[in-house]
Amino acid sequence: MRIIRTVAEVRSEVHAARTAGGSIGLVPTMGAFHEGHLSLIREARAQNDLVVVSLFVNPTQFGPTEDLDAYPRDESRDAALAEQSGADILFAPAVDEIYPDGFATGIHVTGITEVLDGAARGAFHFDGVATVVTKLFGIVAPDVAYFGQKDAQQVMVIRRVVRDLDLPVRIVACPIVREPDGLAMSSRNIYLDPDARQQATTLNRALDAAAAVHLAGERDAAVIVAAAQRVLADAGIRPEYLELRSNDDLRPIEHVDGDALLAVAARVGAARLIDNHVLKHRHVLTHRPERES
Ligand code: PAF
Repeated sequence: MRIIRTVAEVRSEVHAARTAGGSIGLVPTMGAFHEGHLSLIREARAQNDLVVVSLFVNPTQFGPTEDLDAYPRDESRDAALAEQSGADILFAPAVDEIYPDGFATGIHVTGITEVLDGAARGAFHFDGVATVVTKLFGIVAPDVAYFGQKDAQQVMVIRRVVRDLDLPVRIVACPIVREPDGLAMSSRNIYLDPDARQQATTLNRALDAAAAVHLAGERDAAVIVAAAQRVLADAGIRPEYLELRSNDDLRPIEHVDGDALLAVAARVGAARLIDNHVLKHRHVLTHRPERES
């Protein structure tokens, strides 16, 4: 695996692979790898001839009071893990390689960015994500790009950018990877002290409780959300948001009649954590066809 720092070099590597007829997979990351990231790299490896992993802690998606400076960084550990997981190139540019002096362009998606994390963190967050990911697509020109479903809203935003700007890249969302006790893996889990680490398992338990109510046939969104809310409250967690929205476009729903995204964000100890479950719509068979004799 090669570590590359410049746009020009990564372009020339990708160009060589493409000229040889190879497909290009891109895994955009901010580093601090855990099994979730590695599952994306393995998936990219299984499906492509050249696998590029980008490692860039993108300053524009952090707010002034957020954890940009504290965000965990360990490039040599990440490089070793990326290589073991099948990456060919680790693209790890400096900030001014991505945002040179005079950089003045931004991608802003309306609507789906204005709820959940967009509302809780501010519009800058998804503007920063959409801009850097669009820029990475421009640099690497991947056939396929891989993202984690833990950031479900981010995946939707990126799909929207790709659709609206006709970018020739396929987006693959890979399943959330969880610790054995259900906590969704996140680079920010390292901020959790032992008590908070224990408390953090509540997020997934709350989502599970709501999913069980949905699976039992409940379709009233308020009732489903209340089941999760009770589990959070019992553990002393006040979510920043806990909402059930359409899994197509994040519109609010009162009655669940399609796939729905139940998303939660909460501060637990020193960490701000997010998690989600997609409640899959299953058609209930109300009429059984007569058996043929
Ligand atoms: O999910 C992340 O790690 C980041 O938001 C991404 C997609 C790499 C953009 O900086």
